[in-house]
Amino acid sequence: MIQISNLHKSFKKNHVLKGIDLDIDAGGIYAILGPNGSGKTTMIKSILGMIIPDEGNLKVDGEDIHKQFAYRQKLNYLPQIADFPGNLKVNELIRMIIDLREQTANHEPLLETFGLNPYLEQKLSTLSGGSAQKVNLVLTFMFDNPIYILDEPTTGLDPNALIQFKGLLRKERDKGKTILITTHIMSFVDEVADEIIYLLEGRIGFKGSIDKLLAIYESEDIEHAIADMAKNMIDA
Ligand SMILES: Nc1ncnc2c1ncn2[C@@H]1O[C@H](COP(=O)(O)OP(=O)(O)OP(=O)(O)O)[C@@H](O)[C@H]1O
Ligand SMILES: [Mg+2]
Repeated sequence: MIQISNLHKSFKKNHVLKGIDLDIDAGGIYAILGPNGSGKTTMIKSILGMIIPDEGNLKVDGEDIHKQFAYRQKLNYLPQIADFPGNLKVNELIRMIIDLREQTANHEPLLETFGLNPYLEQKLSTLSGGSAQKVNLVLTFMFDNPIYILDEPTTGLDPNALIQFKGLLRKERDKGKTILITTHIMSFVDEVADEIIYLLEGRIGFKGSIDKLLAIYESEDIEHAIADMAKNMIDA
């Protein structure tokens, strides 16, 4: 579904992505992990065409995305930091995004799921952080597209919203969607991810199932396995 080969990206002297090779099959939940600054968001933005790589190739659904735009219609993206004008009301924002995407949206059940109906007339600037994130989730999940790219979607969610969100993810996975998620919450990864992709200093350190990761590092939990892997990569 997504093929990345030899992807390089620098910001001035900061060589952020150092030759990423990655093949993501269609269907499943892929957790993209790695320390702060390891290049997760930069890689994601490269897939979205928001960052132009210095070198390398990216394919989405078999097509090279270089200077292409149409493929973005297949992607639902939740940015790490969504910055919409604060004076917009929640329902105005939803309407605006639907108009921009020109796709059929199914937001009503999502508003219900996340308990957002009482907030529809509220301005974005007046929402709590978690409520704003729920609105972002609605904006991302209201379109029926094959690929979801979620950059730290759990930020600020309360336990109940987190349960709803995990349910939503599993439902979409069961429909065959390809879902990429970055997160720093290992319990969340343990519960929902089919595969882990681990980035360290702009390189892929691991790609595979949680079971495989635990077996390699003879560990009982992801946190320790990841810590061991990071140490190994830095020592190497
Ligand atoms: N637009 C930009 N201009 C300059 N440097 C950037 C830009 N975007 C990212 N960087 C740098 O690239 C590196 C990787 O950043 P990136 O946001 O991809 O990390 P990340 O893995 O998503 O981290 P986090 O877990 O904190 O979200 C960092 O050193 C960051 O400062
Ligand atoms: Mg990031």
